[in-house]
Amino acid sequence: MTTHATSPRPTLAEMFASILRPNPNEADYAITRIEGEIPRELNGTLYRNGPCQKILPDAGPGALHFFDGDALVHAIRFEDGTAHHLSRYARTESFERCEKTGRYRGGINIKASHPEDEGPNSAPNTNIVFHAGRLLAMVEVAPPFELNPETLAPRGTWDYDGKMLGMSTTAHPKIDGRTGQMLIHGYQPLEPYVQLYVVEPDGSVSLAEAIDAPWPSMMHDFAITENYVIFPLGSIYFDLEPMMDGRGFGEAVQGRHDLNMKIGVRRREPGSPTKWIDAPSVGFMFHPGNAYEKDGRIWMDACTYENPTGLLEDLATARSGAVRGEGGFAAHPYLYEIDPEAGTCKETKLSDHAAEFPRLDDRLVGYENRWGYAGTAAPASGAEAYFRRITKYDRVSGSSVHRETVAGQWVGEPIFVPRGVDAAEDDGFILNLVYDAHRDRPALDILDARAIDRDPLARLWLEERISLGFHGNWLQAT
Ligand SMILES: [Fe+2]
Repeated sequence: MTTHATSPRPTLAEMFASILRPNPNEADYAITRIEGEIPRELNGTLYRNGPCQKILPDAGPGALHFFDGDALVHAIRFEDGTAHHLSRYARTESFERCEKTGRYRGGINIKASHPEDEGPNSAPNTNIVFHAGRLLAMVEVAPPFELNPETLAPRGTWDYDGKMLGMSTTAHPKIDGRTGQMLIHGYQPLEPYVQLYVVEPDGSVSLAEAIDAPWPSMMHDFAITENYVIFPLGSIYFDLEPMMDGRGFGEAVQGRHDLNMKIGVRRREPGSPTKWIDAPSVGFMFHPGNAYEKDGRIWMDACTYENPTGLLEDLATARSGAVRGEGGFAAHPYLYEIDPEAGTCKETKLSDHAAEFPRLDDRLVGYENRWGYAGTAAPASGAEAYFRRITKYDRVSGSSVHRETVAGQWVGEPIFVPRGVDAAEDDGFILNLVYDAHRDRPALDILDARAIDRDPLARLWLEERISLGFHGNWLQAT
């Protein structure tokens, strides 16, 4: 599929087909094509992770599920105004076996062609997180896979010091900016449906508990506050039977429009019970933005999909270019007001423009924040508008500011980096990968967070056509 690169106005479907087209090259080069100037305050590493299938199925890349692919991890390192790009595959046992045999190892849409390759698709391709000296590549269907933070060389699976209660943990741990604790959950179709872990700043695991949930669901992410853990249980049912009889993940995860969401709330202390509170609507969220406590309530913002069935259908076919628009692949910003004592939940839709990959100043995870950032849709309707903007939200005034890309460019997850360790909230930079269909290359934009609607302070063109990927995080140099 190459027509997208010359098309005057590539479609979103062409963009998906292009950025998810595998490029198995691993990178190791100094970035030299730079427009503008890299701020000298940026010293550290931007880690990114996303799927990039090295050995393809016979049916080609378009047949892959949106979530399928080996984990190609990127480290873009900044030092005194220079930048360097390193990428390495997460070399799990399964990855190395298939690299050796040259066989596609199977995924969500297509099974392995050889019995030896059967088994869970454990590519840790969703997020990359540094905590307590460990750099962890993560996916929600496997335990974390540890990498060397400098070289990205494999260090192997980390199983929470043998304390895992389920098959996996998710790719979305929450690191409390005040305590330094990392909280993370797991989910699975077997009981216990949900599990919770706390990893202390020294890397020890201080809590590992099973959580009773009303039904098994896909719970991609969760939220924390100073005193609570919040589990968003979506209107998606994880049915074990299709998994057991070989029909696979695609049929096991079902949109259920007869189930309103529930919000599980429990205190962070060991042994606390979980209260499951009815949300007003059917829905599903991949990503809450942040949650915090104020006036006896928990306030949680999130990007919520109102049509779980449409979402699941679009995810299955996105790589072949079949994305239908507002019906499925569109989450909208919502605010949830939860009363943990009364057991009530109100929801407010904040915008009609689709938004995903919500981020904030990570030092405020779990505490009251004013500013949020997300990849959002332009005012045009339908799928073509998705991921055309970066939006900055002001929770105090309710206003928002946008930076819109030109035609043929799409944005990924915006990551906030403070200007310095003592900088105020929003005083820093937004790092954002932008895919340019005309050049068939991504660029990394460095924006002034206080002026995101202006031109980037610097735009770094990457040499390799990498996927925008899913998630990443900044690690400040010490
Ligand atoms: Fe995610």
